Amino acid sequence: MQQEKIDIIKSQIASADASNAEQLEAYRMQYISKKSVVGELFAEMRNVPNEEKKAYGQLINEVKILAEEKFQELIERVNSSQNQSKNQDIDLTLPPSNVSVGSVHPLTATRQRIIEIFERIGFNLSEGPEIEDDWHNFTALNFPENHPAREMQDTFFIEKGPDIALRTHTSSVQVRVMENQKPPIRTLSPGRVYRNEAISARAHCIFHQVEGLYVDENVGFSDLKNTLYHFAKEMFGKETKVRFRPSYFPFTEPSAEIDISCQLCGGAGCNVCKGTGWVEIGGSGMVDPNVLENCGIDSKKYTGFAFGMGIERIAMLKYQIKDLRLFTENDIRFLKQFKAMT
Ligand code: DAH
Repeated sequence: MQQEKIDIIKSQIASADASNAEQLEAYRMQYISKKSVVGELFAEMRNVPNEEKKAYGQLINEVKILAEEKFQELIERVNSSQNQSKNQDIDLTLPPSNVSVGSVHPLTATRQRIIEIFERIGFNLSEGPEIEDDWHNFTALNFPENHPAREMQDTFFIEKGPDIALRTHTSSVQVRVMENQKPPIRTLSPGRVYRNEAISARAHCIFHQVEGLYVDENVGFSDLKNTLYHFAKEMFGKETKVRFRPSYFPFTEPSAEIDISCQLCGGAGCNVCKGTGWVEIGGSGMVDPNVLENCGIDSKKYTGFAFGMGIERIAMLKYQIKDLRLFTENDIRFLKQFKAMT
């Protein structure tokens, strides 16, 4: 009786077929799952007299193996028929699916352009750490301890006494370069800087600067002016005017703020330049002799100039971006406008 039933199931398994996923599932339900006919054979074991259990067990195990082997075979059959139909479906005349290509971030593009301009006039590139000690960020740059100038740059301290902080400017790289190299030095140091400022359209706690340093014999203020004139015209166009405004930085003497003619109104006055026709792009000056000496450079023999500019500032002026936060929000609608620069 059992034998007969088993033979029928065996022949059903042998002739089973499947050509798609649904039929495969139906087969699985019928011959593999717990509730399948094969499952039932196992459940019936309970009712088989003890002396027959061994023989019965062998029989139903064979059925189980048969059912599983068939299942594997059917899976392979369905897969290969699907692949075949996929191959047949390829239509070479269809247009390609839209591959979306990213774009260079406007800050990256601006940094690259700045580097290009200065590399052509003999500046190399240098980098320094973003976590900086007091010496490189302040003391070597002639910021005396407790000097109010330190407070102009609201600092994120990591440790106090000795102080470790997130660098507040890339001027720290000037110190590192001068400590390790002998003049002539012509170097450009772009990088990220940090200040404890509330985030708004005009300020951020993380931003980027690019520092320039030129130290050699007989370097004068006219070299500083000519270098920055050249930069402004290359970066913003031939019509751009540059203005130097007397200022104060502890590490330069004399010091000057660098302004360029407003890119939006061409100098006539608008709300970007607050009616003045000028916008500031950075600070500059002749390297203070104390700074040269702090870094082991003979200030009687060598002079130098330095400048530091905000990369966001330059990008905002160049691309007429009104809100600093756009650079870090990663809004694709903003970023994809810079595709042409890829
Ligand atoms: N480090 C200054 C700042 O972040 C900018 C600066 C001014 C850099 C004058 C210089 C410089 O190299 O000479 O405000």
